[in-house]
Amino acid sequence: MTATRMFGVVVAASVFSVVTLASAEYRQGASGTETWSAEDVKVLASLSLKRLPPAPIDPSNAVERLPAAVELGRRLFSDVRFSRNGAVSCASCHDPARQFQDGLPVGQGVGTGSRRAMPIVGAAYSSWLFWDGRKDSLWSQALGPLEDAVEHGGTRTRYARLIAAHYRKDYEALFGALPDLEGLPLDASPLGDKAERAAWDAMDVRRRDAVSRVFSNIGKAIAAYEKSLRHEPSRFDRYVDAVISGSPAGQSSLRADEVRGLKVFIGKGQCVSCHNGPLMTDQQFHNTGVPPRNAAAPDRGRAAATQKVLGDEFNCRGAFNDAGDSQCPELQFMVADEPVLEGAFKTPGLRGVAQRPPYMHAGQFATLERVVRHYVEAPHAAVGRSELSHRHAGRKGDPKAGRAPIELTDADIADLVSFLGAL
Ligand code: HEC
Ligand code: HEC
Repeated sequence: MTATRMFGVVVAASVFSVVTLASAEYRQGASGTETWSAEDVKVLASLSLKRLPPAPIDPSNAVERLPAAVELGRRLFSDVRFSRNGAVSCASCHDPARQFQDGLPVGQGVGTGSRRAMPIVGAAYSSWLFWDGRKDSLWSQALGPLEDAVEHGGTRTRYARLIAAHYRKDYEALFGALPDLEGLPLDASPLGDKAERAAWDAMDVRRRDAVSRVFSNIGKAIAAYEKSLRHEPSRFDRYVDAVISGSPAGQSSLRADEVRGLKVFIGKGQCVSCHNGPLMTDQQFHNTGVPPRNAAAPDRGRAAATQKVLGDEFNCRGAFNDAGDSQCPELQFMVADEPVLEGAFKTPGLRGVAQRPPYMHAGQFATLERVVRHYVEAPHAAVGRSELSHRHAGRKGDPKAGRAPIELTDADIADLVSFLGAL
């Protein structure tokens, strides 16, 4: 059996298990310029879109797989009536024609935010949503912007009324009868301004609960839609599939510079240590010393988020979760107060990344080259401690230093940037 055939068979037969490979070097076809070791091929295979399992089921959202919920969520996603000024929808900042983001450094809704809009495809694989992970489900995440003063800026009573006025039939087919909304204030919410909070406090507890339930169901329909979105295979995926199956023709889907960049990505660039799996994210939080947008009040990232998710009425333990008294293992075992969370942000996935500048949690970097140079420069973090080691810090070889400095030549950087364009 040739190594090539063996890869094909083994990979096809065991999609998620560790692939056992011969120790022999695996040679690329005639058109190729790179030699991949058996170990490399394992890593390449782990990045292929074909390895992406179905998104984990969220038991807290009972409608997430119903086509009617996907359709209702799709319509709500771009309905601008669901905002204070009648001009903002989720699609304003998550434009389906732009990979569900907006190309701006920070979100622009009813007002201006402090972080960059994230692409939505693939978010269903994250246990923690947002750059800081302050939400623990897609449906609970969707409720955040709706009541955020600078995003949609609306209130849950307003949204319940809109559902009753425009979506009653579709809503009731999925979630049962709407509550009686007669006489409710137009704008009342526990998260609103002073008047909206007072209006909320004045409401009967049962009515508050009924309105919050309608609100949570809006999130559940939107989450069903978001979960239906998929990545398309890229030139990179075609290349990996060709390497695995030993097809020289398919390997021409990446240029030589892109292949060299891929080698840096999985090798001395150490990129794959955080950007791994088919979505190219470990779904973890890391402090990589990205300079804060506002130096006077640096963003603490994950460190300021864990108490928020624990205290969230719409979290996995809350009354609006459809899983009953679920154990919520993610929340239960969440790392809540380690020093490493200070200034840490979620590793973003890299599919389609070249088409959506600017980069980082507040759009700090305009180009991919700037991003890659950041990893080489490895500056000190404004808050907390960067996980990246600076090459002049003398930490090389020190076992306590963790990772080695990322040392790249200008040619490596150019190749890496080319490679990121193939995702
Ligand atoms: C004003 C612009 C704006 C609007 C409107 C908006 N978002 Fe966002 N979205 C953002 C920003 C900015 C972030 C990152 C914020 C953060 O991390 O604090 C984000 C993050 C997200 C994420 C997290 C993705 C991930 O991988 O963690 C999802 C999902 C999302 N938004 C969905 C929605 C939905 C659904 C709506 C409508 C209900 C919506 N957004 C409305 C700007 C917006
Ligand atoms: C220690 C983990 C880690 C390593 C190693 C790492 N990254 Fe990242 N990467 C992150 C995190 C975390 C962010 C978001 C940081 C932020 O916004 O503060 C990020 C952001 C990015 C972004 C911006 C994506 C976007 O949507 O804004 C790109 C591109 C990127 N990394 C590429 C790379 C490349 C190329 C390498 C290898 C040279 C690399 N990363 C190494 C964790 C890592």
